[in-house]
Amino acid sequence: MSEMDFYMETLENLPAVINSNEGMRELVASLVYEFMELQHLYDSAIEVVKTYLNIIDSEFSMKFQRNPIHNIDSRLKSPQSIIGKLQKKNLPVNIESAQKNLLDIAGIRVTCCYINDIYAVADMLCSRDDFKIIKQKDYIKNPKSSGYRSYHMIVNVPVYLSNSKTYAPVEIQIRTIAMDFWASLEHQLKYKTASEITPEISQELRSCADKIAETDIRMQDIFLRIHDID
Ligand code: GTP
Ligand code: MG
Repeated sequence: MSEMDFYMETLENLPAVINSNEGMRELVASLVYEFMELQHLYDSAIEVVKTYLNIIDSEFSMKFQRNPIHNIDSRLKSPQSIIGKLQKKNLPVNIESAQKNLLDIAGIRVTCCYINDIYAVADMLCSRDDFKIIKQKDYIKNPKSSGYRSYHMIVNVPVYLSNSKTYAPVEIQIRTIAMDFWASLEHQLKYKTASEITPEISQELRSCADKIAETDIRMQDIFLRIHDID
């Protein structure tokens, strides 16, 4: 649903008790508008990062005839899921609280071909003097107990609007195709099935993640050997 559709639909479907009260109607309208502004800002921040990633990928393609980035996905957290996460964390449910406490409203997932590409992309993001790195977590060197591997960054990026410049945080997850294969299936298995995940299954998933990580290293090694890089 577009931001404007969300705005219109919410206002058209207000409960009678709010609709009949002019003051309440205006209050809800201004809240919905604030939410739309927030979504627009985060959506724009995603575009800023995606544009930069596409530029470095095409530069690599031009200079070295290969693409370090296999795929870029992005998503904006829905209003429902923003509210749900604030409630779960016992935080105030309002726009200021969402901006202050939730750093993953805007999310980008970059799938790279090889492990070294992940660090190259992360370094290039760090090298931009207008990007402010808020947090970095290397779940490749330090995998999660689930077996999950990825490089996570929270980057504050500038968004130039018609009459202002505002920063918005974007969560960037950078991983290989192999890491993405495991994370996608593990997510489906864990969250999309009703049945319980037993310790045996967790162990099995961890073992698959380790095997996949081993293969990732071997593929990286083959790449380096073929390109004669020590
Ligand atoms: P959140 O409040 O969930 O965002 O946690 P956090 O701020 O500690 O972030 P974390 O570094 O744990 O990364 C959160 C995101 O990484 C999740 O939304 C997932 O996309 C991904 N992630 C983290 N752990 C796992 C895992 O075990 N399996 C899968 N499939 N994805 C994971
Ligand atoms: Mg998250």
